[in-house]
Amino acid sequence: MSAKAAKWIFYLGTLISLVLFLGLTVDTHRQIKTLTHTDKLSEQVVAGKRVWQKYNCNDCHTILGFGSYYAPDMTKVYWRRGSEGIKAVVRTPERFTTWRKMPHLGLTDLELQDLVAFLQWVSEIDTQDWPPQDQKLRAAAGRAVALGVSPGATLFQEKGCFACHRLYGTGGMLGPELTHVGSRRTYETIERILTDPRSVNPQATMPTPPLSHEERDELGRFLAGMK
Ligand code: HEC
Ligand code: HEC
Repeated sequence: MSAKAAKWIFYLGTLISLVLFLGLTVDTHRQIKTLTHTDKLSEQVVAGKRVWQKYNCNDCHTILGFGSYYAPDMTKVYWRRGSEGIKAVVRTPERFTTWRKMPHLGLTDLELQDLVAFLQWVSEIDTQDWPPQDQKLRAAAGRAVALGVSPGATLFQEKGCFACHRLYGTGGMLGPELTHVGSRRTYETIERILTDPRSVNPQATMPTPPLSHEERDELGRFLAGMK
């Protein structure tokens, strides 16, 4: 190949890449409004973002790819833990963290409420799967959605039960796996555990979950059916 031909390939190649790059950038910017559903940016979400900044959660966590890599990514944490699960971790990190420690940050209840609204909003942004989420968790979320025809399965996710319990091998390790709990516990026992864990096992360490009577009933029927 002559030097002239090589030059042309270089110029043309650079030009085509540049046009593609600019085109895609403009296209992304045009879509940002829909992908981030800015219409749902409520005052509470904005206040939650300020809480996130005030306590420097980014010092340890990434969110939307930004932050440090010491602790888990928070982009989709709302799906993993649900609103009660996130609150539980931030209130009593010592119960949920492994050898990697998360500090006690002393958020007020109002700050926690705002923070959860912010994390829920972030979890609904269509990031086109970036940063990639744990495949196992996604499989479990998929199953939970499939189970989701039952309000009990949705509650299990929402009320943060995944923080300590596993379904199909996914979830936290503080409590027993519940995939087959229906074959060892009746609906009545599960309902009692959910009302007051210590009424069934005086040594129980499970915190009493904040559930209404109807929610206990839904969760009880869902779990009693897990055979
Ligand atoms: C000094 C570091 C540090 C700071 C600051 C910090 N965290 Fe954490 N956080 C951790 C670590 C480490 C873990 C995970 C530990 C483990 O289990 O391995 C964690 C776990 C979590 C989890 C559970 C993660 C999951 O994948 O389910 C949540 C939720 C969480 N943090 C929220 C927050 C929020 C909100 C803030 C700010 C208010 C914050 N953290 C600030 C270190 C930190
Ligand atoms: C902070 C951790 C934690 C959270 C959150 C939690 N659990 Fe538990 N759970 C436990 C532990 C630990 C046990 C084992 C008995 C004990 O020590 O209390 C348990 C036991 C149970 C049992 C009895 C299982 C068996 O095999 O006998 C059921 C059912 C149950 N939990 C349901 C739930 C549901 C539903 C939620 C969500 C509303 C939930 N748990 C939230 C820690 C937790």
